[in-house]
Amino acid sequence: MASVKITVRRNGPYRVETPEGEVELVDADGNRYDLTGKTAFSLCRCGGSTKKPFCDGTHSKIGFQGAESAVRAAGGHPGDAAPGAGPAAGGAGEGPAGRS
Ligand code: FES
Repeated sequence: MASVKITVRRNGPYRVETPEGEVELVDADGNRYDLTGKTAFSLCRCGGSTKKPFCDGTHSKIGFQGAESAVRAAGGHPGDAAPGAGPAAGGAGEGPAGRS
């Protein structure tokens, strides 16, 4: 069982749960965010948060629409996303961008 669970919230953030508090979050320069005592937090994926990389609830105000869902590819393993099912298959970004 994974010690860290990341849930893609419907039209919302990435919810990171680490019951044992064993996760490290660093910025682009490798500086660590202070997660002392936190066993769960949410990371913005709408781009609108004023507290990036954390979610501040702005996604609800701006009507963020996230289309990702985990879909098992035919003959694939759990966790394998079907082509076009989301970031694991298509890279960064939302929706069909980059797949034209
Ligand atoms: S996902 Fe919540 S503010 Fe961006």
